[in-house]
Amino acid sequence: MDLLTITRPDDWHLHLRDGEALRDVVLHTARRFGRAVIMPNLKPPVTTVSAALAYRSRIHAALPPDCNFTPLMALYLTDNTPITEVDRAADTDGIIGFKYYPAGATTNSDAGVTDLVRVYPVLERMEERGVPFLVHGEVTDSDVDVFDRERVFIERVAQPLVRRFPQLRLVFEHATTREAVQFVRAQGPKVAATLTPQHLLHNRTDMFRGGLRPHLYCLPVLKREHDREALLDAATSGSSKFFLGTDSAPHARHLKEHACGCAGVYSAHAGIELYAEAFAAVGKLDRLEGFASQFGADFYGLPHNTASLTLRRTDWSPPASYPFAGGELVPYRAGETIGWDIVSGVCT
Ligand code: NCD
Ligand code: ZN
Repeated sequence: MDLLTITRPDDWHLHLRDGEALRDVVLHTARRFGRAVIMPNLKPPVTTVSAALAYRSRIHAALPPDCNFTPLMALYLTDNTPITEVDRAADTDGIIGFKYYPAGATTNSDAGVTDLVRVYPVLERMEERGVPFLVHGEVTDSDVDVFDRERVFIERVAQPLVRRFPQLRLVFEHATTREAVQFVRAQGPKVAATLTPQHLLHNRTDMFRGGLRPHLYCLPVLKREHDREALLDAATSGSSKFFLGTDSAPHARHLKEHACGCAGVYSAHAGIELYAEAFAAVGKLDRLEGFASQFGADFYGLPHNTASLTLRRTDWSPPASYPFAGGELVPYRAGETIGWDIVSGVCT
């Protein structure tokens, strides 16, 4: 099968940044995906419905006028989010839910929640109103090994959370471990997970292959091969609890190739092609459409896209860099090859 036509996919976890950076990256996503969940970790973070709607307008302004792409806005949960903001989110079209960043876990997360117990009243309201809770599932304790932070989060935070709020709609974002897959599988239909292309294609050894590879560094960090196998198995299983979220996260080259490099892999330039590669590698291309174009929309209670997208099995090389806010952005697989491309992109 060298051509594959699927319903136009959606990206349920995406970082677009703002200003010039936004304008430099947004078309990569809009050419491939019908909708994307836009992460709110800007500086300052997007904590209110009104800030999210203003950000959404800037995203629309960065796109060609005939471009049919819908940003779905996530709000940044803080210790001080008022319950009234949950109601406002529930009552506003295009607001997808609240994103939980444990304070200090990742890029621009300083305003994140210090202790989930503090926001229990807000979570209660989210549960009542059916507002989704998008979770960065890592503890931040400095004494917990970075490779164990997701597993420890499941024990200490996620398990108690689903027991206390059994009706809360929860997305375990960018799951990276076998334990996360087991956790999500063990829950009812209110709990799901997104999976990134890099975690389906790489293990942590790849980050050190022949030397340190900063462009493969993201958070949660890549894990062991047995974790990657569990993630790929979940993605290609046909289970509607697992769906596409690239976590494409652009950072300028000089901040990645740095003594203290930023976390984030930029994959939007091949945001669907990379999944096709991962699924093809295990002979499961027939499962791509559910994962990429159906299960996420079903979870969020949204219709499937009506347009389609055709992928073609052919090798191409991403450039060494793309322009990015006056500097450079090194895409995933720069100068190497990707085994699939898109035939019929939109928003050109
Ligand atoms: C993301 C970013 O750069 O905004 N980085 C990353 O490594 N994934 C933040 C995040 O999603 O954790
Ligand atoms: Zn992210």
